[in-house]
Amino acid sequence: MSVSYIEALYLAASVLFILGLRGLSSPETARRGMVLAEVGMFLAIVGTLLHRDIISYEWIIAGFVIGSAIGTAMGLLIPMTKMPERIALSHAFGGLAAALVGISEYYRHGAELGSVKMAAIGFEVLLGSLTFTGSLMAFGKLQGLITGVPVTYRFQNVSNISLVVVTLGIVAYLVVDPSRYPVFYTMLGSGFCLGVLLVLPIGGADMPVVISLLNSYAGLAAASTGFVLSNNVLIIAGALDGASGFLLSVIMSKAMNRSFTNVVFGAFGAVAESAAAGATAAHAVNEGTDADAATVLDNAQSLIVVPGYGMAVAQAQHAVRDLTRLLEQRGTTIKYAVHPVAGRMPGHMNVLLAEADVPYDQLYDLDAINDEFAKTDVALVVGANDVVNPAAKTNPRSPIYGMPVLNVDQARTVIVLKRSMNPGFAGIENELFVRPNTLMVFGDAKTTLNRIIAALKR
Ligand code: TAP
Repeated sequence: MSVSYIEALYLAASVLFILGLRGLSSPETARRGMVLAEVGMFLAIVGTLLHRDIISYEWIIAGFVIGSAIGTAMGLLIPMTKMPERIALSHAFGGLAAALVGISEYYRHGAELGSVKMAAIGFEVLLGSLTFTGSLMAFGKLQGLITGVPVTYRFQNVSNISLVVVTLGIVAYLVVDPSRYPVFYTMLGSGFCLGVLLVLPIGGADMPVVISLLNSYAGLAAASTGFVLSNNVLIIAGALDGASGFLLSVIMSKAMNRSFTNVVFGAFGAVAESAAAGATAAHAVNEGTDADAATVLDNAQSLIVVPGYGMAVAQAQHAVRDLTRLLEQRGTTIKYAVHPVAGRMPGHMNVLLAEADVPYDQLYDLDAINDEFAKTDVALVVGANDVVNPAAKTNPRSPIYGMPVLNVDQARTVIVLKRSMNPGFAGIENELFVRPNTLMVFGDAKTTLNRIIAALKR
């Protein structure tokens, strides 16, 4: 097919990627955004397959069949709660693919490469190899295969930064003299080592920020691949991926109160002292039944629902929606407060609530809703813990101190649905559970919600 048709397909694909990203900026348009991006990817694949440089399709078909089988199995088998792990694995393979393209180009052209192409291959292989091992490390930490505790040692920052500088020096050397094959493979080895060493000192709790940053590196590696292969759609898609991954890591660092510089240079290092153990144990818990919760809700004029990871575990989103619909019919004002890092992946709560058809106009993010709690009758916390922990505002010794949290404690009554007094992801106690205006209803969130609905209907 003529090059101009292929370029037109690539242009259309690029426009669709941009429109797709734009759609993802709101839950209302997110589904359309995904469809647009999928069509864009389809056009990009068609354009690439029509390329005249392809003389044989056997390997492509084999890769397509094997890749689709693995992708479909992963999509069907991996639960929503394991999404960060799945994403880490996908990034690992994306990074490896980019590195392999760069290695094969270097293998084919080696010494004849011009300096611009060599620079592009250098960055592609470096970022690709770093993303590969870094993402595998992130996967291992999330999955519990490697310790989730930050691994630190003396002179870690100095040695990491020195390795980054030396590796960049190697890339610069290759740009001047691409004919040094051992130097090229040393750079590849340094990339693999960097991925491991930069993620090692970062704790499991901060893996989402790391994954999003590695996503950004994988995007930049793909953009470099685009330069190497003179492929415009790869350059554009890679740059979009790189930029959006970078922005997402900055937003998540802010939402989790982490220093972004530390994520980039891989040295979160010292973990803040954990909150005083037993701080809540001394206080009596105000335990209630589902009938008590139903009575409180029946009398509420306004309700803010705060979903958290436990809602995802219990798959309670449909029961939440049924309850809020019922209360709405009885005249209660309903709002949902969605914390940016509630759950285990960006947008986790939005996805679940959208699946349960909760109206988008009832969803509020942290900044938009935090002042409303003080004017609200009931805050219903469904399996959320860290994102509603007042210690983030009041206890400078807490590891989550400074992280923006939802002001549920300011509501007139707080109902918390969870199974026990166990801590959440950060592993710390939550003083909210022993506050006098908090009613703890223990049990699986879905079961409890269904019982509350039944009690309200009686
Ligand atoms: P968490 O602090 O993890 O707390 C979830 C709570 O849900 C637990 O305390 C658990 O208590 C309860 N739970 C679990 N299964 C339940 C069930 N079947 N029914 C009822 N409750 C259940 O959740 P969160 O408030 O959403 O905070 C998220 C945390 O994860 C933050 O620390 C955040 O930094 C971190 N994180 C976020 C992300 C992203 S990007 N969202 C990614 C990784 C980590 P019981 O065991 O007592 O039931």
